[in-house]
Amino acid sequence: MSRFPENFLWGGATSAAQIEGGRCEDGRGLGHLDYVWYRGPKIPCNFMLKRDFERAKAEEATLNFPNRRGIDFYHRYKEDIALLAEMGFKSFRMSISWTRLFPTGLEEKPDPKGVEFYHSVFRELHKYGIEPLVTMIHYELPIIFVEKYDGWVSPEVIPHCVRYLKFLIDEYKDEVKYWLTFNEINMVTAVPWLGGGIILDRYDDFEIPRGFRPFGQLPEAMAKRWNNASHQALHHQFIASAMVVKYAHETAPNCMIGNMFNLHHLYPETPSPADAYRAHEETEYNMFFCDVMAKGYYPKWMLSYYKKHNIEIKWYDGYEKILAEGKVDFISLSYYLSSIVTADPARQERIGNFIRTLHNPYLETSDFGWQIDPTALRISLNELRDRFNLPIYIVENGLGAFEQLGEDKTVHDSYRIDYLRKHINAIGEAIEDGVDVMGYTPWGCIDLVSCSLVSMSKRYGFVYVDADDEGNGTYDRYRKDSFYWYKKVIASNGEDLD
Ligand code: BG6
Repeated sequence: MSRFPENFLWGGATSAAQIEGGRCEDGRGLGHLDYVWYRGPKIPCNFMLKRDFERAKAEEATLNFPNRRGIDFYHRYKEDIALLAEMGFKSFRMSISWTRLFPTGLEEKPDPKGVEFYHSVFRELHKYGIEPLVTMIHYELPIIFVEKYDGWVSPEVIPHCVRYLKFLIDEYKDEVKYWLTFNEINMVTAVPWLGGGIILDRYDDFEIPRGFRPFGQLPEAMAKRWNNASHQALHHQFIASAMVVKYAHETAPNCMIGNMFNLHHLYPETPSPADAYRAHEETEYNMFFCDVMAKGYYPKWMLSYYKKHNIEIKWYDGYEKILAEGKVDFISLSYYLSSIVTADPARQERIGNFIRTLHNPYLETSDFGWQIDPTALRISLNELRDRFNLPIYIVENGLGAFEQLGEDKTVHDSYRIDYLRKHINAIGEAIEDGVDVMGYTPWGCIDLVSCSLVSMSKRYGFVYVDADDEGNGTYDRYRKDSFYWYKKVIASNGEDLD
């Protein structure tokens, strides 16, 4: 008998900005990720400085913006969904493009063509018995909120966003049962451009030197403002999220709505109490995003942390009630790697998109240096159960790799099968431990544009897409070895992992 529940939601995950393309088609407006351009196969583009933004606008016609092309899901969604159905998907995680519905973000009423596009996608999924799992905001912000405001730091974004989110519930509640409010809400404090459309040096009158590494030392005044601004933006997102969760509970009781955070599992470097305390502190910080969304309040520990780190934000009257009334129904998370912390953070280096860690000699790493650790997933799932006692949906996990289509028109991705096998096994073990896991949707089930590198050459899919970083290629789809393997996994409800 399978360790996985009978109705386990096997599937895969994507986001609108990384797959849709159709940049300005049918009236779509531009969002903040449409301004991030490709800089090289291993150069991360998650941060935006003043000069970058000015350049993106001035050189719009010549820079390479892969998110504007995506993988052309906008035109090929039927073919793509048929491939997912062939693998036996029960669930497909996707997001909605805010600017396809509200092109500038300021409209009172949505664009009917955009509204109809998502109805068509949901109809196609249901045709094959696939449940959509919809992220309302997966790194989406209409560009006007960057140009006229300060991204999510400005409270003015909240009412426009809440109007958009309530519209989604009203319009699609009969087709979409599972919802997530903000993708990886913790990203707004780690990578403020990506998570909140915040231009890091917007108010600085000094030029940040070329070659500046965002994970290095920030000038003190800037670090303080960055900390305040990104936590203010986070507070605004918590409020918007809680408002829509409450609205969904009142108007769409058949739906379930969850948070979504990037889970880090952290080990102390040594048994020294100083290292252990830092690991504890970082873990509490990581969990705090769920605390607010699942318990409905800022934990006291976090308020002390704000004091200790001189983080000052505006709280607004009545925010406690809003948070208390908007508690999510389940926890969802992305998980890719574990890391190590020490009492001397200066020794840690960046691995992954934003995590600073030391190299763990017991773990293998991906092509991109991400430390592969299924056991940490099992441990964290147990910890989340103890802390929240809510169902858990693992909505991202996977292995990014450089890949090329072979002459036999496939990719022999045994390394991906190995990675997924070990993680699925760890989830099975966590279920045996008593964790209520609802589903598993590995990231980038069809190759898509990488978020950090804004490139096609970092691939996660079961399906290969013939497109390169410059947009060359046929965009045709090809099944990789992992496609057939995952099909067997789903058919056996997680038992046949060979
Ligand atoms: C998650 C994001 O952080 O990681 C996705 O939610 C992203 O949007 C994924 O694509 C993998 O990151 P990357 O940089 O390898 O694409």
